[in-house]
Amino acid sequence: MKIKKIACIGAGYVGGPTMSVIAQKNPNIQVTVVDLNQARIDAWNDNNLDNLPVYEPGLDAVVAEARGRNLFFSTDVNKAIDEADMIFISVNTPTKTYGKGKGQAADLKYIELCARQIASVAKSDKIVVEKSTLPVRTAEALKSILKNTGNGVNFHILSNPEFLAEGTAISDLHNPDRVLIGGEDTEAIDALVDIYEAWVPKERILTTNLWSSELAKLVANAFLAQRVSSINAISELCEVTGANVDEVARAIGRDSRIGSKFLKASVGFGGSCFQKDILNLVYIARSYNLKEVADYWEQVIILNDHQKSRFAEKIIQTMYNTVNGKKIAFLGWAFKKDTNDTRESAAIYVADHLLEEEANVVVYDPKVSAEQIYRDLDYLGTRTSGENRRLVTVVNNPYDALKEAHAAAVLTEWDEFREYDWVEIKRGMKKPAFVFDGRNVLDGNQLEKLGFDFKSIGR
Ligand code: NAD
Ligand code: UDX
Repeated sequence: MKIKKIACIGAGYVGGPTMSVIAQKNPNIQVTVVDLNQARIDAWNDNNLDNLPVYEPGLDAVVAEARGRNLFFSTDVNKAIDEADMIFISVNTPTKTYGKGKGQAADLKYIELCARQIASVAKSDKIVVEKSTLPVRTAEALKSILKNTGNGVNFHILSNPEFLAEGTAISDLHNPDRVLIGGEDTEAIDALVDIYEAWVPKERILTTNLWSSELAKLVANAFLAQRVSSINAISELCEVTGANVDEVARAIGRDSRIGSKFLKASVGFGGSCFQKDILNLVYIARSYNLKEVADYWEQVIILNDHQKSRFAEKIIQTMYNTVNGKKIAFLGWAFKKDTNDTRESAAIYVADHLLEEEANVVVYDPKVSAEQIYRDLDYLGTRTSGENRRLVTVVNNPYDALKEAHAAAVLTEWDEFREYDWVEIKRGMKKPAFVFDGRNVLDGNQLEKLGFDFKSIGR
């Protein structure tokens, strides 16, 4: 089975970069990425590569190489499905906000819509690849929909979860630790293996059964998030005992059985995946009556929520128990550096907490727009959008944010924050000038020498 045409439904943070790299490395395969969102597709087709809808280092070069050659972005979903031999489903699978499983289970309505559309349009056999992160056993539902509503053609379902991290998506895709493919039909599996073998060494392509592949994705995210919550739990202990969490992380990370990655204490993890996928894991465990398993993983989220509110509380306490009317400059809004994605960013929750205390928050982020920041706050529904606009200002220049501020709070670990002229900043700030480093990225000793009142995580 040789694949000539690929369609990918969903041109988001996963579909866009993943398909760009597949097209770059397989110039003989035509790859069409489709989405219902016209503005998103227009942005993917924009001649100015600065306007791509996803900011990822290196993505512009990949798109420049493949777009128009064998990589296309379109809103014509039916045509792409009709022509493709292989269809990736890469739509969003957010946490349900209604009905059964509200607040925990994954909302599969977009997945089901895709399956029904594929079934109704397909007139030839297709390989359907789950690229979205899905609850274990979703392939069963997909199979049933495709079989029962289709035009009598054959569908083979594969699970091929994506492990890229935002901010490093292109290097993760170019050089993955592993590619995981779950399936039942060896011909279909081989067809997908072939595509990855264009650039991924064979020994890094793992094949499993469908259920292991689906579950492994949730488990990988749960383990990664658990490490962050583990080190964040220790950060609170460090603060009361005089230990330094970065030193503790360095010491334990040297143990090859523990390893050094994902041990950076922070204001709390964010992103569209960790919380959603753990909640989903918890929901699945509960639905099989595995109470202890569910409670165990839920604790990762509870600790993360605690870390975010603990950081906000520390700001308030340190500033003499009131931030009412005080200007607090947020450095960073994205959930991590090198991305414009703000989904579940810790900054949103820390800001919300401070706004409840009537603080004036001024935000600077190198890649996030003002509209996005207001949308994030409005989405919480804590106060009216008018109130959010009254209390929060967004600026394009960090020095404007910090001018006359009572405090600076680092919410994202953007490299540029280290390069600022902190002498100049100190001069312009209200005194005492507080700095709360929620990412442990600034040189605390240096800032203290300059006269800042400096607080960080776990030290
Ligand atoms: P996203 O919201 O950025 O993109 C999803 C896109 O799908 C949207 O543009 C939406 O308009 C489109 N869409 C939804 N339903 C559609 C339909 N019926 N037809 C056409 N288009 C449709 O989401 P994302 O971050 O790319 O995540 C997609 C999936 O990948 C999720 O399951 C997520 O868990 C998983 N994942 C995400 C990451 C990540 O870093 N963001 C990493 C690994 C896996
Ligand atoms: C994650 C997984 O890493 C990736 O494999 C999966 O495909 C999608 O989910 P992502 O959420 O994009 O990727 O970024 P990641 O680097 O995992 O960071 C997630 C959050 O944890 C960020 O808010 C980050 O700042 C935080 N984090 C990460 C820490 O606070 N400390 C760390 O040591 C690592």
